[in-house]
Amino acid sequence: MDNPLIVTIDGPAGVGKSTMAKQLARHLSIPYLDTGAMFRAIAWTLGAGAWEWDTAQIQARLDEMHFGLSGIGEDSVLSLNSVPIGEEIRTEEVGMWASNFATLPVVRTFLKAAQQELGTRFSLVAEGRDMGTVIFPDAPYKFFLDASVEERANRRYRQLKEMGAPADLVVLTEQIAKRDHQDRNRAVAPLVAAQSAVTIDTTTMDKTQVLAALKDGVA
Ligand code: C5P
Repeated sequence: MDNPLIVTIDGPAGVGKSTMAKQLARHLSIPYLDTGAMFRAIAWTLGAGAWEWDTAQIQARLDEMHFGLSGIGEDSVLSLNSVPIGEEIRTEEVGMWASNFATLPVVRTFLKAAQQELGTRFSLVAEGRDMGTVIFPDAPYKFFLDASVEERANRRYRQLKEMGAPADLVVLTEQIAKRDHQDRNRAVAPLVAAQSAVTIDTTTMDKTQVLAALKDGVA
């Protein structure tokens, strides 16, 4: 593809990146890439504690993994070895495993290549932690979404309740704060806004207002 359009959205856990990325991608008629799902799928596949394996052992398992992408907007489907990645990766526990794998250079190097390769084949709204800083530093449109830990925990709480899933606001707040700390302080590709990113503090904004700000930013 000649000159794919890349839009990056970075930000902390629970800020609403996926929801916004899907809708912005629909608006632009391009796929959205959920890079957190790639870390989660690796974590889910290798399992709890595997982040402590030897680098060579992890590399050997990564070498067997191939990510694919199809669809547009909210219908984008990310697959691992031709199997669509499902809802089983969406727990806060798997999020924490993913955050542990995300500290490992071997995993980041592997996913960097996979994500950049997708970016040569597709226009993308790519969301994650290091899209604007490390993976697509030359992207013409970069956003950083932020919100207070309390507001993000509240949003996750309401989401879980709506799904009929068990949820404890105090535990969620602690989990999100812990993952934030690890994501912001790791040595490799820590969560930070790219210098050229437009930062949107969504704490007091609703989804319609955030989407409007993103659409304005790419207009
Ligand atoms: O966004 P999500 O909560 O699904 O991400 C799970 C974890 O994967 C994050 O807490 C983070 O540690 C890691 N991640 C990352 N870089 C990305 C996307 C996710 O380090 N681009």
